[in-house]
Amino acid sequence: MRRPEFIARQSACPSGFFGHVLARVMAVETAPENDITLDLLELVPKDAVLEIGFGHGHTIARAAERANQGLVAGVDVSAVMLRMAARYNRRLLRGGQADLRLADAASLPYHDAHFDKVYSVHTIYFWPDPLRSLREIRRVLRVGGRFVLGFRYDEEALQNFPAPIYALRRPDEVRRLLWESGFECLRIEERQTGARTLYWAIAVRPQEICQD
Ligand SMILES: C[S@@+](CC[C@H](N)C(=O)[O-])C[C@H]1O[C@@H](n2cnc3c(N)ncnc32)[C@H](O)[C@@H]1O
Repeated sequence: MRRPEFIARQSACPSGFFGHVLARVMAVETAPENDITLDLLELVPKDAVLEIGFGHGHTIARAAERANQGLVAGVDVSAVMLRMAARYNRRLLRGGQADLRLADAASLPYHDAHFDKVYSVHTIYFWPDPLRSLREIRRVLRVGGRFVLGFRYDEEALQNFPAPIYALRRPDEVRRLLWESGFECLRIEERQTGARTLYWAIAVRPQEICQD
């Protein structure tokens, strides 16, 4: 069924009471996909890791179980999501193990090479300038650091998600964007969950950037 524009806009930037409810649904719906993302990220206890578009914040908590001697940071453009995720992760925030901020993927409030790992799930659709955001992600990642990007591309999504809000990208387009932004794309994995086809791009920040 075609998703109404109102709901699509809420997914792009949840707001108000409805945004809160939607995020609760999303937390359950996307949990398996986010767990796969964390597996692909190969977190180790001392990792400093960043999530782009944490939404409900449940994956921040699960990442912190794995990077339990490091730092789990996150940015999101929604003030409602920041409040929700901060409440959910209040113990980690108090202990200094998490750092959540209101920020856009296109302008990350962190120093160069600050993180060992970065991940993002179901957010690239909403980035107005994906190349700029990917370059920002590369900037905050250390050389050799890993980036995992989870995204949907299938018939159901193409038919049901309103195109002006959801910019669904083919895996080969994502591979090209990663290359253009200076990443080395190691591989793209495809997995089926019911009617949904998801892809994960696994990339690293290489030693040198070589662009023609
Ligand atoms: C569909 S939700 C996905 C939430 C979570 N990643 C998940 O998999 O359940 C998209 C989230 O990305 C956030 N978002 C959208 N555009 C963003 C951007 N440019 N920078 C940072 N966060 C963004 C939204 O506010 C929202 O919380």
